[in-house]
Amino acid sequence: SESGCLSIVVLGASGDLAKKKTFPALFHLFQQGFLQAGEVHIFGYARSNLSDDGLRERIRGYLKGASDEHVSQFLQLIKYVSGSYDSGEGFELLNNAISEYETSKNNESGSYHRLFYLALPPSVYPSVCKMIRSYCMNPYSHTGWTRVIVEKPFGKDLDSSEKLSAELGKLFEEDQLYRIDHYLGKELVQNLLVLRFANRLFLPLWNRDNIANVQIVFKEDFGTEGRGGYFDQYGIIRDIIQNHLLQVFCLVAMEKPVSLKPEHIRDEKVKVLQSVEPIKHEEVVIGQYDGYKDDPTVPDESNTPTYASVVLRVHNERWEGVPFILKAGKALNSRKAEIRVQFKDAPGDIFRCKKQGRNEFVIRLQPSEAMYMKLTVKKPGLEMSTEQSELDLSYGMRYQDVKIPEAYERLILDTIRGDQQHFVRRDELRAAWEIFTPLLHDIDAGKLKSVSYKPGTRGPQEADEMSRRMGYMQTHGYIWVPPT
Ligand code: BG6
Repeated sequence: SESGCLSIVVLGASGDLAKKKTFPALFHLFQQGFLQAGEVHIFGYARSNLSDDGLRERIRGYLKGASDEHVSQFLQLIKYVSGSYDSGEGFELLNNAISEYETSKNNESGSYHRLFYLALPPSVYPSVCKMIRSYCMNPYSHTGWTRVIVEKPFGKDLDSSEKLSAELGKLFEEDQLYRIDHYLGKELVQNLLVLRFANRLFLPLWNRDNIANVQIVFKEDFGTEGRGGYFDQYGIIRDIIQNHLLQVFCLVAMEKPVSLKPEHIRDEKVKVLQSVEPIKHEEVVIGQYDGYKDDPTVPDESNTPTYASVVLRVHNERWEGVPFILKAGKALNSRKAEIRVQFKDAPGDIFRCKKQGRNEFVIRLQPSEAMYMKLTVKKPGLEMSTEQSELDLSYGMRYQDVKIPEAYERLILDTIRGDQQHFVRRDELRAAWEIFTPLLHDIDAGKLKSVSYKPGTRGPQEADEMSRRMGYMQTHGYIWVPPT
């Protein structure tokens, strides 16, 4: 089997991330047979005083679409250990619980593995990692592994991130650290390399000669409800753009890797990040939605952006002159994430159809995964006129029988398999912070001001104006709605 004898430890087991994402992902892996009773045990660790059953009941409510029996079988794999995040006692108890399980197994292959998932606020990472290192390392390190999954935010800027990396780097080897960016687990993000490098059609087109601009867009139709306190210290650039959208940017803009080895792919990502020019203030719009500051945990004078549009320029042979517009916002008019690659006008336009729009290739990451290409076609009928239409690959239609896995599910499985391709390497993280740190410091110092926008709208008009200035031509929106 995949696992031998595997202990999965979820630290922060009673928190939101664990309940909403980590445990459901583990459950789905269990349901599909990737985690098997008898080979895997799951330990929840947190400060709250809970019994095993107490934790199991909390998790149960988040496991949907399965038979009670299946859910109960899964829950039986879970034990709870309570303790603090900075004292040896708790971690000793945790280690005893894991060892007890390991010794109860008569594991002939002798391979015992330990996976630690930190579903915790980053302020406790260093102490928790020290505790794991001192008390919970795998005693069978000659045949088994110890791996640690960490979640963003990895620091607040270049210095704090480097400090965190250095601290963790003293405790674990780079190949034991799995820095999650869950966007890398999304189906259509994983499809990007295939799309770009397995299709002859795109190879000669994917460059400054043919592409006018690229937009990478994230929209949410809800605000920071209940997370204001956390959010206000970070803002939308640190929450979404510096990580999720930048990862997508890398996959769209990087050169072809030598092979699919994780190191080869991440080498190319680092290279393209290092080719990004310093961000100019006049190529940034930040906004804050009206009502954001009504949250009692948000200070009245907050300038924290809940919306940002930032232009990245890549200084290399392929992309010189092509703006990459990364946009993200909360409390907007819809929820979606997409990539829009807009091509230049066809020269010598005998149809005089320029005004109708350009070829645009849209990759919709969510909801309703799709790829569609906007084309100009003859309007069907007797007249010779043109209109915009689409070549449409909607996953819900084309792959009706496939259940698209959750990002977390895939990434946890990758960790168990030891595949770091979809995880962020230390130098990649540094390169990402190098791009955004000067801008973030200027925003924090109030040198750029957030403009206000109304919740439920497209966001600040200034951002649409900037996109137009960057040469983006609005074409008619097209959304395929899955049948209900
Ligand atoms: C998280 C952010 O990383 O991603 C949240 O902290 C955001 O603010 C979430 O809501 C969006 O993830 P998804 O998968 O729903 O697009």
